[in-house]
Amino acid sequence: MRISINNNPIETDGVSETLIEVAHRAGIDIPSLCYAKGAKHKSSCMLCAVRDCASGQLLPSCTTMPTEGMQIETDSPEIELTRTLSLELLLSDHRADCEAPCKVVCPGGLDIPAMNRLYDKDRFDEALTLLRDTLVIPATLCFICPAPCEKICRKGSINTAVPIRELKKELVSRTDLQKVAKPPQNGMSVAVIGSDPLGLSAAYRLRKLGYRVRVFEKSGDVLFPHIQTDKVDRTALKGVVELEVSVLTNMGVEFVMSDERDRLHELEELDGVIAAVCEAPSPKWLVPSAKTKQPARLVLEGCKLADALHASLSVVDGTATTVTTTFNSTFGRLSEAEVASLGTELPTQQVASGCLYCDCDKKTTCKLRLYATRYGIKSSRYGASSVFEALHRQRINGSMWFEPAKCIRCGLCVYNSDNGFTFRDRGFVMQVVLPPENVGNVKEELADLCPTGGIWKDAP
Ligand code: SF4
Ligand code: SF4
Ligand code: SF4
Ligand code: FES
Repeated sequence: MRISINNNPIETDGVSETLIEVAHRAGIDIPSLCYAKGAKHKSSCMLCAVRDCASGQLLPSCTTMPTEGMQIETDSPEIELTRTLSLELLLSDHRADCEAPCKVVCPGGLDIPAMNRLYDKDRFDEALTLLRDTLVIPATLCFICPAPCEKICRKGSINTAVPIRELKKELVSRTDLQKVAKPPQNGMSVAVIGSDPLGLSAAYRLRKLGYRVRVFEKSGDVLFPHIQTDKVDRTALKGVVELEVSVLTNMGVEFVMSDERDRLHELEELDGVIAAVCEAPSPKWLVPSAKTKQPARLVLEGCKLADALHASLSVVDGTATTVTTTFNSTFGRLSEAEVASLGTELPTQQVASGCLYCDCDKKTTCKLRLYATRYGIKSSRYGASSVFEALHRQRINGSMWFEPAKCIRCGLCVYNSDNGFTFRDRGFVMQVVLPPENVGNVKEELADLCPTGGIWKDAP
């Protein structure tokens, strides 16, 4: 038989593939959550909705078989609205964070739970690499960052906040800070004007990307003169700053003690210049867009500027990359009941850092997050309450977990396990549960089949 999808005529036998499978075979993308190729499923999410213009019906493409003469439309304002509403409904009882609150407020964007997980596994070198690749001058920031992460730390509402700054200091002291590889040169040469936190982070990032990097600093001293604080022991701080500057030197960053105005002709010859602390005399020079004095924010700005310079020098086809804001599910404060139960039963295991690991283990692979981003969902307009407690995690086996508050009741785990997951109740109160006596029947593959962070495995 012949149908059309988005006005493309397509042949199909009408029995062996559903509409979504015909579309996928033709290279046409239709989003889906409760459908997975080759797995048993029933339609429930309506994300795969399409319109048959021949009959006027809105149909779930994951369970609808093609019939002769169908004229399928996969995208329109009406279909987009249906998908948006479906996503908002699914998120209306999603008591879960994609990113941990501590990471969201960190002005430098440090993935604190990721660092804590490495710390808790005694993988200190990897933790330091993560720390330095984000914060560039982590030891210096331990002295001067006011640590908004600790103020918002969720563990603080249970007993005491995770001592994030102390953990970072410990990591720095447990590792060889100066042990750093010297990246090979990529043949291009750039300059950074000024050695404030922004300048140094741009220099670090660009050197890691292979550029020859020269930092021009007219004060005669690197970084330290740019740090304004009277609240710390300046002698101790100076020692730390010198140590971190030597890391950049070991990587091959060159420091030139000179006023850039004397070297303008020379700088114009380079592949790129970042003006961290001065006006740019040439439109080719990159300057920070955000005005800030917050040291960790300056580091983030420096990394962004370095990435922007690298992107402009690596353009292949002249196409600009579109930057989208990634959806972030947040549930806010713990309820009294959650505080009480988390106080007695930590969600994962008792770990050295004391961290609750508030972020989602599937934050980079979750289909719900992917589509919420694609359809521009800001937050649920229906609120976010759930019969399930946030951060309550049921251990399935050594590294596999079930987290009911992240379940969207798609049923994939129920239909694809024998005597494992099961539905409880019906209608709006319907839940997916894993009775303790069924735990041994759950197969590892379900973690990949689950479209959200409902079922997940610990990262290696
Ligand atoms: S399940 Fe998906 S949407 Fe929910 S917290 Fe995890 S990543 Fe975010
Ligand atoms: S408990 Fe851990 S992940 Fe949660 S806010 Fe505190 S440091 Fe961050
Ligand atoms: S836990 Fe099961 S029902 Fe819930 S989202 Fe994952 S696969 Fe679907
Ligand atoms: S209803 Fe089709 S993917 Fe969910």
